[in-house]
Amino acid sequence: MLDGKRVLLIIGGGIAAFKCLDLIRRLKERGAAVTPVLTSAATEFVTPLSVSALAGEKAYTDLFDLTDEAEMGHIQLSRIADLVVVAPATADLMAKMAGGHADDLATTLLMATDTPVLIAPAMNVRMWEHAATQRNLAVLQGDGLRVVGPNEGDMACGEFGFGRMSEPLEIVAAVETALAGGPLNGKRILVTSGPTHEPIDPVRYIANRSSGAQGTAVATALAALGADVVFVTGPADVPPPAGVEVIAVQSAGEMLAAVETALPVDAGVFAAAVADWRVKRESSSKIKKNKGELPVLEFAENPDILAQVSQMKSGRPGLVVGFAAETDDVISNATAKRKRKGCDWIVANDVSPETGIMGGAENAVHLISDAGVEDWPRMSKDLVARKLASRIAEALS
Ligand SMILES: Cc1cc2nc3c(=O)[nH]c(=O)nc-3n(C[C@H](O)[C@H](O)[C@H](O)COP(=O)(O)O)c2cc1C
Repeated sequence: MLDGKRVLLIIGGGIAAFKCLDLIRRLKERGAAVTPVLTSAATEFVTPLSVSALAGEKAYTDLFDLTDEAEMGHIQLSRIADLVVVAPATADLMAKMAGGHADDLATTLLMATDTPVLIAPAMNVRMWEHAATQRNLAVLQGDGLRVVGPNEGDMACGEFGFGRMSEPLEIVAAVETALAGGPLNGKRILVTSGPTHEPIDPVRYIANRSSGAQGTAVATALAALGADVVFVTGPADVPPPAGVEVIAVQSAGEMLAAVETALPVDAGVFAAAVADWRVKRESSSKIKKNKGELPVLEFAENPDILAQVSQMKSGRPGLVVGFAAETDDVISNATAKRKRKGCDWIVANDVSPETGIMGGAENAVHLISDAGVEDWPRMSKDLVARKLASRIAEALS
């Protein structure tokens, strides 16, 4: 619930601005007060009248409005909220924010505010993938802004890809997380999850049985404690958690690139089941079945993401947590893995088929650290995640 909380909602000039009408309703349903601000471009997409009617408050649009300035100066307006939400955060608005511009009411408020800021980017996939937007995103994240979305999907412009604004309820979840005031508030934590798919040809790939359930539960638990979570996921069976920044990847190579982009972080939890090997030469066309002839696949070693991050000379996360899925000698193999990789903790579990852990709802783990081995009883993956998240909160405090 958001009782007693106030959100300053800055609406940018993108097609997704219409979703803000629902967002205002959802925030108010949960008890939040919403003060809306529209950029000049936003007024081309939604009217200040509808925004104001739904918010039940004045909708601000103009920096140089004598009446507004007399009633509530722009500096005061920038400070009245518990959280500033920018939705949709257009490419232009993100660029202005990253550059420190203050040439209209929205950007001036964003420069003057001393409250946390959450942005929900929304734009065409090419605009989102453009080097300038990705540069601006990195700057804004470095400045401590929280990000929700964007999602992958069909776009108003007819293209498909990342750039769709998160749905109103996902933004509400991110608002609740940002305002949770938990022990991980202000901490940025990376979580990797799911399997990777290593392509053989355009239609075939090598995969593993990881469902992504444990990594997703860890990300959810960390967000519930107030962490700003960046969630890098392979093609998992379970949907990613709401209210976190999601980066979807396919292969180990893509996962490493996404992890490098997400750094720096305060902690990294590497729960993904990354394939150890990939096919050395991916065929650009489907390998044909020739009677009597079997294809020979040559393998190459994949990058070791956990080891690379653990052994970073500068910018290493303060806490690096790896996962070890073993079928034999779980504790001795996982203890050796911790030493070899250089991570701080290993969460080890036995994934032999008879345990039902891989793809199941429960887990029985051992937490291996400098302090030794802790055996946790078998419990739900959600409970493992919550226990691990509170241990991470203790370690980062
Ligand atoms: C129909 C239409 C839809 C648009 N949708 C988006 C969008 O979804 N995201 C975006 O970044 N820009 C979009 N633009 C471009 C922005 O409106 C333009 O960059 C504007 O200057 C952004 O203003 P702002 O900084 O106030 O958000 C769109 C433009 C038009 C004409």
